[in-house]
Amino acid sequence: MSKANQTIKTVLKEPTLESIVDYIKEKNVKKVIVMSGAGISTAAGIPDFRSKDTGLYHNLQKFDLPYAEAVFDIDYFMEKPEPFYALAKEIYPGQFLPTKTHYFIRLLQEKGMLLRNFTQNIDTLERLTGLDQDYIIEAHGSFASASCTECKEKADSDMVRDHALRGKVPKCESCDGFIKPDITFFGENLPKRFYDNLSDFDDADLLIVLGTSLQVQPFASLIDEVPKSVPRLLINKEMVGVQKSKGSGFDFKSKKGVHKDVYFSGTCDEGVTKLAELLGWDKELNKMYEKGTEKLKSQYVKEETEIEPGQQKEDKEVDQLADVLDKLTAEDSSTPKTT
Ligand code: OAD
Repeated sequence: MSKANQTIKTVLKEPTLESIVDYIKEKNVKKVIVMSGAGISTAAGIPDFRSKDTGLYHNLQKFDLPYAEAVFDIDYFMEKPEPFYALAKEIYPGQFLPTKTHYFIRLLQEKGMLLRNFTQNIDTLERLTGLDQDYIIEAHGSFASASCTECKEKADSDMVRDHALRGKVPKCESCDGFIKPDITFFGENLPKRFYDNLSDFDDADLLIVLGTSLQVQPFASLIDEVPKSVPRLLINKEMVGVQKSKGSGFDFKSKKGVHKDVYFSGTCDEGVTKLAELLGWDKELNKMYEKGTEKLKSQYVKEETEIEPGQQKEDKEVDQLADVLDKLTAEDSSTPKTT
């Protein structure tokens, strides 16, 4: 039966976080899908894409692009890779720490409740929390590996990282083609792993959507792939993904008195903190966040005194970032489109 025609059997008492928590407890929820976007990483210092004033797409004037999204467009990259690498330098993993929200997702795994985290983010912060790689679907790829755009040969990660952190364009040793991190650019296919795991949505018993504008397809439409009886919680600064036609998009107004979709207006960290409090998980979440942050910080520390005589500070920093990034595992890679 198409999902649009399914009748809703399970409802929430109210469209509130409290009702979501009642539902989790009463139904013994065990298969949560988390869909996440750039809004979960802004508290880590990584700008999102579309927020007015602060979003990356509003701050690319210095790159003189024909249009903002060209920086992630494969055809443009093949002509002019420099703007992407200038941007990559600023957002390259190794300079940022996971947020409380990232640790909340890890906590769901610890509780045996996470079915999958479908993320659009390329920052690899999910991995840094220790979240098992099996649970993560990087729908738009990530910086964790890179390949030649011409001969497709996998590139040496250290070499790519060294170039990227200096804002330089790495080239393939075999064919001299431009090397690109295995991020899904506009005009490229999403990773096979994304499609291979879409059936998870049929099994989900709760959907949590965090920090995304739901502007990019096919990711955005996934919110409609859970069964109609499954509650959906959006935690975001702005209300997004609202119903445009029957059976597609969130219905926060619950016109028919059937509460299934809940919108929490605020930051992701505020939303997950409140959720954790209501679930009685707040102490655990705080501990996990604090311990994880402390551990990663100690790996990131760049002590001036550690720089050996004759070694450039920048070189030392690149080496130290390399050590941290070596802990990240590599990863493989229809086209993302803005709706
Ligand atoms: P966007 O920048 O489009 O949306 C981020 C959303 O998060 C917006 O709705 C913000 O209001 C919200 N937000 C920002 N900070 C927040 C916070 N601290 N707490 C809660 N909400 C917050 O980013 P994405 O939806 O992730 O694709 O963008 C999707 C894709 O567009 C990206 O993966 C990228 C981009 O083009 C590719 O590169 C292929």
